Order: sequence, then C-alpha cells, then structure tokens
Amino acid sequence: MNKVNRLLIIVFIAVTNVCLGQKVFTQKEIQIIPKPNEMVLSDGVFGFSNETKFVINDNAQRDITSALINKLEKASGLKFAVVLKAPKSNFVQLIIDDSFEKEAYELKVSKKSVVITAKGSAGFMYGLETMRQLLPIAIESEIVVANTIWEIPAIDIKDKPRFQWRGLMLDLSRHFFNKEYILKTIDRLAMHKMNVLHLHLVDDQGWRIEIKKYPKLTEVGAWRVNQEYKAWNARAVNSPTDKGSYGGFLTQKELKEIVKYAQSKNVEVIPEIEMPAHVSSAIAAYPELSCFENAIGAPSGGVWPITDIYCVGKESTFEFLENVLTEVMEIFPSQYIHIGGDEATKDHWKTCPNCQKRIQKEGLRDVNELQSYFIKRIEQFIISKNKKLIGWDEILEGGLAPEATVMSWRGTKGGIEAAEQGHDVIMTPESHCYFNFYQGPQNEEPLAFNAFLPLNKVYAFDPVVESMTPAEAKHVLGGQANLWSEYITSEALSEYMLFPRLTALSEVLWSTKESRNWEGFSERLGTMFKRYDTLGINYAKSAYMITASSIVNVDAKKVFLSLENEFPNPDIRYLIGDKDISENAIKYTNPIEVAGTTLLKASLFKDEKRVGKVFIDTIKLHKAVASKLTFKTPFSDSYKGDGSLSLVNIIRGTKNFHDGQWQAWLKDDMEVVIDLKKEKEIQQVILGSLESQGSGIYFPTAVTVSISNDNINFEEVGKLTRAFLSNGNDELNDFKIDFVKTKARFLKVVATNLKKSPNGGGSWLFVDEIQVN
Ligand code: ACM
Ligand code: ZN
Repeated sequence: MNKVNRLLIIVFIAVTNVCLGQKVFTQKEIQIIPKPNEMVLSDGVFGFSNETKFVINDNAQRDITSALINKLEKASGLKFAVVLKAPKSNFVQLIIDDSFEKEAYELKVSKKSVVITAKGSAGFMYGLETMRQLLPIAIESEIVVANTIWEIPAIDIKDKPRFQWRGLMLDLSRHFFNKEYILKTIDRLAMHKMNVLHLHLVDDQGWRIEIKKYPKLTEVGAWRVNQEYKAWNARAVNSPTDKGSYGGFLTQKELKEIVKYAQSKNVEVIPEIEMPAHVSSAIAAYPELSCFENAIGAPSGGVWPITDIYCVGKESTFEFLENVLTEVMEIFPSQYIHIGGDEATKDHWKTCPNCQKRIQKEGLRDVNELQSYFIKRIEQFIISKNKKLIGWDEILEGGLAPEATVMSWRGTKGGIEAAEQGHDVIMTPESHCYFNFYQGPQNEEPLAFNAFLPLNKVYAFDPVVESMTPAEAKHVLGGQANLWSEYITSEALSEYMLFPRLTALSEVLWSTKESRNWEGFSERLGTMFKRYDTLGINYAKSAYMITASSIVNVDAKKVFLSLENEFPNPDIRYLIGDKDISENAIKYTNPIEVAGTTLLKASLFKDEKRVGKVFIDTIKLHKAVASKLTFKTPFSDSYKGDGSLSLVNIIRGTKNFHDGQWQAWLKDDMEVVIDLKKEKEIQQVILGSLESQGSGIYFPTAVTVSISNDNINFEEVGKLTRAFLSNGNDELNDFKIDFVKTKARFLKVVATNLKKSPNGGGSWLFVDEIQVN
C-alpha cells in the first residue's frame, strides 16, 4: 500500500469513528497496572448498553462476574442480563480453557463482544479486573456518573503472573485493624492482582486471634494499658496488675469470614503465629509458658531486646502451641502456616534449668540449636497436618527445619542461603519491602520507622537475585510487602503507607522483568491515582515531592542547588522569596546559584497544574560554605554525608539519618578544621546534630570552638557542654556557640561523643552542617 492510500484509510477510520461518536483509543491511554504481558490494540470499541449480556457457564462464574456487574450498573445506571447462551453480538462471555495456567487469562475485546478465557475463577477474576481498568475511571463511583461513554477499546490481552507469591503482610498486633478494613484491603489486593494476605496475629503488644481453649490469650493478651499519647519507644513498662483497655482481636467467626471473602478474590490468607519470642502478650496471659513464670503486663510500646520467650524445656509449652495451631488450622485452609521465629534473645534459655536439661538430653550445642530443635518440632507437627511451615530468616540459625520455607527480611542473604539448600523462599528484604519506612522527605511525612523506602526503589526491586543459579531462582516463590504497625495508628495512615508503594510492587511481582520500566509505570500511575481518588483511598503523594542537593565549588567558593524528583523528566518550577508558587514560576533547568540567605520554593507541575506539596527551604549562606575541611578524626564509612564537603554544603539533614547528609562517628569525637581561605570576622558557630536514642544516636556532650591563623596554634574561644538526657523521640538540634567577635582564618570544631550508649555498645554522633557566622 502506498503512503497516500494508507493516509486516506487512516483519515477514513478517524472520520467514521467521529461520526459514530466513538472514542478512538491510543496505546498511551491503555493504562493498566500491573502491566499485562502482551497487548495488541485494534481499531474500534465495545460499548456497554442495556442490551449487553453477560454469558456464563455455571454459578461459580455468576459469583465472579457479579462484583463487576454490580459496579458497572451502579456507576452507569445500565442494567445487564446474565444468560447461559451467547447471543449474536453485544455480550461479555467467560470461556473455560483447561490448557491455561491457574492465574492466566486472555481478554479479547472486539466491537461485537468481550471474551475472557481462563482455566477457572482466578484467571476470570483477573480478566475482569483488567477490563475494569480499561473502563472509564467513573466505574469506581458508587453513584451514577452522567455523560460517561461506557466503552472499552478493541484489544487482545494475554496475561499471566511472573511469581506465584504476590503478598502483603499486615501487622495487627502493634495496632489493631478490624475485619472491615481487612476486607477492604483484600479488594485492593485483588485489584492489583496480588494474591497473599499474611496476617501478623501475634506479637508482644497484642494477641489478636481468638483461641477457644485459651481464652485469656484475648481476655488479657489482646489489651494493653493505653499509652498512645506517648512516643512508641518512650512508653512505660506495664505492671501485670494494670488492666489494659487498648486493643482488640478477631473472633474465629470473623476470621472465617475473612478467609471466605479472600477465596472469592483469589487471595490466600496466611496466619502468622509468632514463636518463640515476640510473645509477651501470650506470657502476660499465661506466665507458665515462660522459663521463669514471672507475671508481666502486655507492653504498650517498644520492647528491645526481646527477652520474654516461651520455655522450650517444658513439654507443656509444646502442648499449648499444638493446641493453638490446631485451632488456627481449622480457621485457615492455607497450605502455609507462618510461625515467626525472628529476633529471639535466648538469654532466659541459657539459665533456665528446663531448657538446659533439654539441650543436654537432645545433645544440642547451644541455645541456637535449641531454637532449631524447637522450630523442627513445630514443623513436624505442621507437616503431620499436611501443611507447610514458613518462618523469618532467623530459622536458618542452628539448622533449617527439613521442609521449611524461608521469608527473607534481613536483606536477601537468608533467602539466597535457603535457596542454595534447596528450600523455597519468599523475598521481603527490608531495603525494598518494608512499607513502615518513610517514603518522602522525613520532615514532610507522618511519623514512621526511621529508614527510607521511596517509590522508585520499590519499583527497582527484584525477588530473584542475580547471583542465583536457575535452579535456585526456581525456589523464589515471589515477594511481599510488610507493613509493621508500630507507627500505623489509623486506617488512613495504613492506606497512606501502602499506596502507591503496593502499586509498584504489584507490577514487580506480576509483570515480566523485560516489560517493566519506571517511565511507563510513572505515566500509568497518574491514572491509577484518579481511580484511588474515586475509591477514596488515602494514597501518598510523596513521590511528587522535590528534594534539593548542592553542588559545592571550593575554588570558586560557590554553591549551586540542584532540584530533583523521582519521576523521569520532571517539570519543576521554583521561585525565590515568600510568594505563592504558580505555573508562572521559573522553569527549573539547571542548578541554581545560591547568592545569599534565600527562601526557595519549588513544586512539581503536571499538565500546567501543581502536584504534591510545595518544597520550601531557607538556604543559609554562611561564612564556611564551600570551605576546605580537614578531618582529624575520620567519619564512618557507613555515614559519609554528601562527601568531604557535606558539613559546609548548606543542605541540612532530616530525621532520616540515611538521607545522605549526615556524617557520623562511632565512639570517636568529631574533630574538624575549617579553612576559611582568608581571615574573616566571626562570632558564632552552629553545629547541627541528630538524636535517635532508639538507634544508638546521641547529641554531643560538648562542642568546642578554637581559632588559629597559622593552623598550628589554636586558641579556644567558645565551649558548650550539656548533660546526657534520656529522649524517646527523634530530634534535630542546632547547638550554638557564641563568642566575642574576632578575626581568624582557621577554626577547629570538636564535638564530644557520649562514647558509651546507655543501651550497651558504642554511641553514634551525627553532624550535618557546621555554620560559621
Ligand atoms: C521482622 O521484621 N522482625 C521480621
Ligand atoms: Zn526454659
């Protein structure tokens, strides 16, 4: 066909489509997450009307289609008949094909019909979920949306998941979440084609599952003294006689309802019953489960180290756990039972006569082997019930139970080791899968665990590690996000931490590695956000946030600010001064030179509209900016800040001590000499520091400033000392040392490290900037 003819045909198609009032879909408008394996777009559309029929074979298909039919009827005001035999045209039909894999489907849309082919309910449900994302966003509305064209493009989609385990863990212990929220979460998992909901039902701060044989587990263990007004790690130890009023639990009836609903959405619910540690709530209910049987209260906040532990010496402990697990297995039909196994401090076992007797009798070497003995015995019991055991990667220590599946959280190392030993693995490394971490600049975010996991890092996750052999890679069942709930105090906050990071993970776990790319995902995410808006999901807009970094030129003594955003080719606009930022602000193209003390505002724009929060920072140009520094004590390799000029680069650190602005010293003092290049009049030094006692980071106990003109003889001009104070919060502080106005070229600043952490071990000293005025 020659060029002119082809053009005429394209014009003809365009004109006829316009005449018929049909929308012409472009490839770019097909915005499905997770991205399907294969998609071929054709001309034309399928339009829904009152005459559209849904064609099914059986009642199972009736159930599967009803959810989408109800949604579409509610939002469109149309009514659809469900029939057993396909008419000539205008129908949506489900066709069974046994040759398909369990979760695979084909969705074929023509002007005449929509046909979904799959082996069974899982594939049909995913086909319908994909169709949902082809429909206008108005499909998510609870009420009729007028003036909507209910059409989807003619398309052929062939799709199946890369991994069989596409999971989310909700921690119900640290803060309790009820049945309604869990059901809502199951809907959202299914929407993203995720298929595992792991419920962390037991931990120190609350036992959340009704066990009929042991009623005190929930009468006592599900309730703690309300100290919610205090920081998590600053909460007082409760006495065993204090009555708890804060908490909750799920009854067996509620859990069965959750399981049943999840099954209808192809989601398997995996219960986690923690053992042998992280069980203070159980020991609060039944002290006889512990080594020394001392009464304790269920803790209201952080516990570290976790020394309360089940006694493995006593047979009665196993009897208790087998009874509990028996009831658990009656509620959860899942193939897997998760038994925790993480972070046990085994000190009590070292001195408990029963545990020591067990070690001798079984010929064990130490308490690590005692834990291994314990897990192996629990595994035997689980296997005897035709189930499989999963544990956190600590279950590798002292020898893995013969058929255990390992959930690798301390990086991927445990997962690699388990796969090498021929065991199945689920990858949930903290670095990419812990959704309790911050996702944006810490000063702008709700309180979270002190570590950083932005959206693009989740998207960059791959459960299969490159060094794995193909045989080892086969053992990787998939991946999972974990939302630990120490700081998750509401459903709104839970949604905020999950979305859009779960959106990114869903694509990592479903789509082929080759088909994924950050740019394409970013584009499609915009449409998903509109869906979330209509669904009322409180998703985070943190990825829209601007961050600044500096470029320091020592020779020219100049500093430039570079503005960044995690999305590709961001449209950033900025202004200097205290005005409102609009689309008329300056378009950012190159790093901005900082001339004096400056109020800088910047924001991301999309289609000429501001998106996300405004970045606001007062950039303070001080006399030491871009000065040469000589470190008398080297900073730690783990915390190098932004390089050797980090302390004079004007960019301040945040409470996220991994933000790349902090330099740190372990046990050592900080001792640094600043060369101002020429003699300058000075009267103040401000040292910026961070305290996070839970992480072993302490403010300095003293800051001393000395001056010199020859860099040999220094004279002390100012000193600040302070006593150690216990502090349950993460805190930033500027320590100011004022002195009589003087002239000098060299300054020596010494910050004294606390040296010994009150929690044991060495203490960290963190510094982000030394301002000289
Ligand atoms: C864990 O984060 N302790 C599994
Ligand atoms: Zn013991």
